[in-house]
Amino acid sequence: MTAAHLGATHEAFKARPSGPLKGRVRPPGDKSISHRALILGGLANGVTEIEGLLEGDDVLRTAAAVAAFGAKVERLGGGRWRVEGRGGFAEPAGVVDCGNSGTGVRLLMGAAAGFDLSVQFDGDASLRKRPIGRVSGPLEEMGARFQTTEGGRLPLTLTGGGLRGISYRLPVASAQVKSAVLLAGLNAAGETVVIEPEPTRDPTENMLRAFGADIVIDEVEGERRIRVRPRALTAAPVAVPGDPSSAAFPMVAALLVAGSEVAIEGVLLNPSRTGLIETLREMGADIEIANRREAGGEPVGDLIVRASKLRGVEVPPERAPSMIDEYPILATAAAFAEGPTVMRGIGELRVKESDRIALMAEGLKACGVQVTEEPDGMVVQGLGRAPRGGAEVRTAGDHRIAMSHLVLGLAAEAPVTVDEPGMIATSFPGFGDLMRSLGADIDEG
Ligand code: S3P
Repeated sequence: MTAAHLGATHEAFKARPSGPLKGRVRPPGDKSISHRALILGGLANGVTEIEGLLEGDDVLRTAAAVAAFGAKVERLGGGRWRVEGRGGFAEPAGVVDCGNSGTGVRLLMGAAAGFDLSVQFDGDASLRKRPIGRVSGPLEEMGARFQTTEGGRLPLTLTGGGLRGISYRLPVASAQVKSAVLLAGLNAAGETVVIEPEPTRDPTENMLRAFGADIVIDEVEGERRIRVRPRALTAAPVAVPGDPSSAAFPMVAALLVAGSEVAIEGVLLNPSRTGLIETLREMGADIEIANRREAGGEPVGDLIVRASKLRGVEVPPERAPSMIDEYPILATAAAFAEGPTVMRGIGELRVKESDRIALMAEGLKACGVQVTEEPDGMVVQGLGRAPRGGAEVRTAGDHRIAMSHLVLGLAAEAPVTVDEPGMIATSFPGFGDLMRSLGADIDEG
């Protein structure tokens, strides 16, 4: 599978006002866990069997990168993958192109930095604009060398090896930065410590433990402290749960389209990822969690979602890390809610696959919703009813901006069209089919 299968041939994607959504669906595998399963599998000794891997372009790029670093990576079929690690990374023959994926490039940089190799990393136009100094900075402190283009962005060349552990206090709440430093620490002399003033998602820590890493987590004066020391990793099986960030789209669609009742099965419910569910419930959403269980060492459950009348809320800024990718779809829900929804402390949204604050504001305004943009936040003036819709929305190639506006189109007065629909497959291949299976009137044109 390559970028070519992604359906990028379509020029637009249209969502029309739909009848009640009904049925049961299973979202694709969690993107964060999928990247890490491949990378840790590549670093470990032995065979890592993965089930439920997200087969979206972002993760397929990481699979190709891990193979380029010397592991044997095979697709067995339908989300089942096998990674045979050789206990470390070797120098790849060509450029490692991470496409659209910030997680892919940042984690791979950390993983590669510990080895005696040189590698050039690159990405698409969006990734080339994103900040990479937040990762090359601490890796440089550990002893890695970088050659970057102007402004310290991609493409860059990393020369690794000879690292020493550091103590690093995260200047931004970023699981990617935390993970890059921890992965580098696996092959650095002494101890590597990451201090998190605000807790971020923890799949790296959980999986490192499962792969036998020497990792200790404690809390010091209210801050989370993660310590790793070098020790070889041992392959372990990974069962990837459903991605809550993808489940968010059918979930909000079911809340907004009158008369809907939808079950979304096998969703990851790690507390570092459930901020959207908490916020929607505060807004009055009828979301029930059934069949809570553990899968692959993580809490999962099925979401039963019924159409609900929502009211605007103020989202506590400290909740941001647990729903950082869900603000675009929350903004869609907020447009239908009664009264304003205030989202602050989300400046990080401006350096995602696009400037998500600016693009959500632009798209919602085009659909008849009033939005006030702030440097690190936005306020959506909820109408208490369906917005007008009827717009063609610009996505700047951002998958979550596209899906957020398509969900709006399913419940608006008039259809919504988005450009560049092919990018949806970076995180949610089969989004259109899944939504249609629930009865959504949505298609690629
Ligand atoms: C991710 C961390 C988050 C998130 C991204 C996935 C991860 O990014 O937005 O989609 O897998 O570690 P930041 O670390 O930049 O907050």
